Amino acid sequence: MNKIAFIGGGNMASSIIGGMLANGFQPEQICVGNRGAEKCQRLNQTYGIAATSDNHAAVAGADIVVMAVKPQVMGSVITELVSSIKPGTVVVSVAAGIQLSNLEEWLGESRAIIRVMPNTPSMVRCGAAGLFANELVSSEQKASVEAMFNAVGISCWVDDEAKIDAVTAVSGSGPAYFFLMMEAMQKVGQELGLSEQVARELTIQTALGAAQMASTSEHNTTDLRLQVSSPGGTTQAAIAKFQSLDVEDTFRQAMEAARNRAREMAAEFGN
Ligand SMILES: NC(=O)c1ccc[n+]([C@@H]2O[C@H](COP(=O)([O-])OP(=O)(O)OC[C@H]3O[C@@H](n4cnc5c(N)ncnc54)[C@H](OP(=O)(O)O)[C@@H]3O)[C@@H](O)[C@H]2O)c1
Repeated sequence: MNKIAFIGGGNMASSIIGGMLANGFQPEQICVGNRGAEKCQRLNQTYGIAATSDNHAAVAGADIVVMAVKPQVMGSVITELVSSIKPGTVVVSVAAGIQLSNLEEWLGESRAIIRVMPNTPSMVRCGAAGLFANELVSSEQKASVEAMFNAVGISCWVDDEAKIDAVTAVSGSGPAYFFLMMEAMQKVGQELGLSEQVARELTIQTALGAAQMASTSEHNTTDLRLQVSSPGGTTQAAIAKFQSLDVEDTFRQAMEAARNRAREMAAEFGN
């Protein structure tokens, strides 16, 4: 049974821990190091796990150390902690914009390291995470870390670190794209005469239904769209309008902006 330490016990760490415990991981396996004592107490009470404001104590003997502090403080927290992380431990970073080269510099080059880009729906066990490992990570370590992220959703390995920036643009920032679309649909639904509550309920259920259909159907999303867009019908009228406004290019520009921002963050936080 792997011993797993989290450094930083905020939103992302709590979501992952909640999912892990619901999926067969044991409270005795998990220990959190978090700056503030109040959060330590809450984590202990909520999940029955050990939590301490002493990061060194948290990582003592850990097989997996998950770094879940903000990118801005990652370098200083790791540098201060590195001597207490035992050799052979795999270090996992969930921080946006922190590159493997930075982690290797702070941890030393002989460390097994995995970069993960999770997303906020991890909180409701519908997360989507992209993972990239350096060459020192064993297949057993990969499987163990994958199991942690599968406990809060799905996980996909990428074969090139640069693709983590693409993962950031698709699933890392993606929940907000859907929130934006839902916000617009609710607003316009109200303008068309629906009450706030009805517009909200119909929008949310439609998003849920479309995602459920896309994930369970044997057809791709283009086919699913065409199936509900009869020529001369209402859906076709709406889709034609979207296409005349070049929605695909709007997404291209928005997602490239997210990818570019991830690259800039790497330069900002990496030193
Ligand atoms: N939330 C997301 O959707 C999401 C998505 C992708 C990636 N991430 C990444 O996940 C990481 C954490 O994000 P978050 O949303 O969970 O942030 P958060 O809720 O602010 O959690 C960060 C935690 O780090 C703790 N901390 C700060 N300095 C520390 C130190 N020196 N030692 C130990 N703990 C320390 C804070 O403790 P106190 O509050 O007690 O000071 C806080 O509980 C970030 O790197 C972020 O890029 C998050």
